[in-house]
Amino acid sequence: MMGQDHLPIGVFDSGIGGLTVLRVIHQALPAESTIYLGDTARVPYGTKSPEVVTRYALNNARFLVERGIKLLVVACNTASAVVLPALEEELDVPVVGVIRPGARKAAETTRSGVVGVIGTEGTIMSGSYERALLEIRPGTRVHKRPCPLFVPLAEEGWENHPVSLTVAQEYLHDFASGGMDTLILGCTHYPVLIPAIEKAVGAKVALVDSATSVAEAVAQKLGRLDLTCPGDGPPVREFFVTDVPQRFQAVGERFLGARIFGIKQVDIDPHKPPNQAVYC
Ligand code: DGL
Repeated sequence: MMGQDHLPIGVFDSGIGGLTVLRVIHQALPAESTIYLGDTARVPYGTKSPEVVTRYALNNARFLVERGIKLLVVACNTASAVVLPALEEELDVPVVGVIRPGARKAAETTRSGVVGVIGTEGTIMSGSYERALLEIRPGTRVHKRPCPLFVPLAEEGWENHPVSLTVAQEYLHDFASGGMDTLILGCTHYPVLIPAIEKAVGAKVALVDSATSVAEAVAQKLGRLDLTCPGDGPPVREFFVTDVPQRFQAVGERFLGARIFGIKQVDIDPHKPPNQAVYC
């Protein structure tokens, strides 16, 4: 009989963005099976209240746990920022969010002790990156700013477009002053816009993409819990969305850097019978 180590890793996000995190997990842990849930019917989370994001995140997590996972990754920065303690308390599986691994990486990277954080309004308002940074590296000075227009620009595929550069300059031109040498890309979409963000802040500022640190945190946690898949069979990769899958597929393949097959649309509304998958 297959052990727990053969169960997939569950990953959820408010929609497409978490595929940038899944992409790095696939690269770093190629033997692991994964189940991804994009809550495309209720995206965006970044402009919603912590109470609403908490409710949605709990629905998503329960859906994945019911399918049988060995570890949950909350790929969405906004959800990680507001709901991680509640998920850790509620669920029987280990949970990895994106905030702490990103903050740890930034704390290790900065020399000046001045770190920037950009993200959705929800993530920035929560102050969670700041709290994590101060816990890991007391005395760190944190500059923070929401950059909401980056999300549609990334989905549009405008990573090198002049409009993206103009928007990045508008948000960030004065941001790198005051000795900031490290900038946390605190939103799933922002790694897509690295070319524009880099130009706006200058090459001397190190950009921290939480995804790499998350994959490292997942690998460490699986190892510690003796849950690493031995890789004795091909990994299974499943994708679920809560709205029709066409846009998820088109934009998602770019974010994931790979083809996406067999996306299933599900209704995870707790008032309806669970796990009714529509195969598309
Ligand atoms: N995935 C979200 C995040 O990382 C960005 C998109 C949204 O607002 O839902 O915060």
